[in-house]
Amino acid sequence: MNNLSLVKNFPSSFIFGTATSSYQIEGNKYGGCGKSIWDDFARKKLNGIDGLNACNHYEYFEEDIKLIKGLGFNAYRFSFSWPRLFPENNNDINMDGVDFYKRLLDKILESDLEPFPTLYHWDLPVRFSKIEGWENKDTCKRFAEFSYFISQQYGDLFKKIATVNEPWCVSWLSHYLGEHAPGKQNLKSAVSTMHNILLAHGLSVEALKTNNSHEIGIVLNNQYGEPLDQKEENLNATKLFDSIHNRWFSDAIFKGTYPELALSVLGDYLPKNYDNDLIVISHPLKWIGLNYYTRSIIKYHKSEDGINYKTLRGSLKKTDMDWEYFPEGLSYFIKRINKEYNDKIPIYITENGMANDDKLNSKEEVDDDDRIEFFDLHLKEILKCLREGLTVKGYFAWSLLDNYEWAFGYTKRFGLVYVDFDNFNRIPKKSYYEFSKYLI
Ligand code: FCB
Repeated sequence: MNNLSLVKNFPSSFIFGTATSSYQIEGNKYGGCGKSIWDDFARKKLNGIDGLNACNHYEYFEEDIKLIKGLGFNAYRFSFSWPRLFPENNNDINMDGVDFYKRLLDKILESDLEPFPTLYHWDLPVRFSKIEGWENKDTCKRFAEFSYFISQQYGDLFKKIATVNEPWCVSWLSHYLGEHAPGKQNLKSAVSTMHNILLAHGLSVEALKTNNSHEIGIVLNNQYGEPLDQKEENLNATKLFDSIHNRWFSDAIFKGTYPELALSVLGDYLPKNYDNDLIVISHPLKWIGLNYYTRSIIKYHKSEDGINYKTLRGSLKKTDMDWEYFPEGLSYFIKRINKEYNDKIPIYITENGMANDDKLNSKEEVDDDDRIEFFDLHLKEILKCLREGLTVKGYFAWSLLDNYEWAFGYTKRFGLVYVDFDNFNRIPKKSYYEFSKYLI
């Protein structure tokens, strides 16, 4: 039977935390929150299954912070909701929203947890749809203003802050694959967003710095690409996948360039003076967040737009998302950041976790042994990296609560804590108790 006793082997300075995001847990029918692109997308594409209620963290946040404390964790990663703070327009502030994050941050600090806020975890105010959202550079400028506002309002209450969560999802997944809001399937839109979301990050870094000496980072999601076989066409397809999914974002941030291979298929859609923006995009950062979940098998597949690959699932053990367990990919990317980009930068695993078909048993408990196994396998990889002297400094389990899992609504349970969405009851799962056994 798997257990998490290995957490005892981590250095005492290592940070254990859990991560959430505003739209997935807060419930935007509470506290005067405005509409985001996800409300629109849910109405049009997801049969209206939206985050109106989510976990009602807005009213239950004190209980939720207690739950984190009860785990023995020492950090909490959450995100600010832009439409909660500016529901109607870019100037009129919702004071209930301002007050909510003040109370949340106070509670986090009072509980001796380190706050790790993120400025953008996908809930773009819906009003930006009129100007094509992240396809328009004005949105980047407004994001910088929003960043400045957060820094002024709450800057003394946290040290570390991340600008954007997973720019690949904001751009490719949402504008080329169409799986997330706003659901576009258009290469030109995808490329302009791949660039603009990074520019938004860079402008946000500048805005934050004018106010406070924050330790600023960004959160990237890397996915391991495994060629279907050793045929040359599949090996090349895997390089292209890696170049678009991973290298595009890390090359831009660490080196101020885009990878040649991705440029060969995407370059025509970039704005003419994109080089100038890369200077802003590559401002040095104090830390980097890595979200890691799985791998994809890559197969050559001819496509008119030059995106000549297809992603498949392999035959390893899978989570309820149909994502394979592939823990080796986590240490692979930690190593890659240290060896190829920056050997000093502190790396935080800002998300890692799994969806499981969790059910309450007759004793009203949840036996999520598969999740314990998943955490154990990934934490082992991190220990290996620590032994090699790599700079990984913390690990955030995704997620504290079962929540609104984007295009899958409430059907995928990622939490350490089970949520009954009818009455908002929270029931810690076995994995929760397993962590706390070794951390408290
Ligand atoms: C990540 C997202 C997070 C959650 C997990 C399962 O890509 O950042 O919000 O949905 O996947």
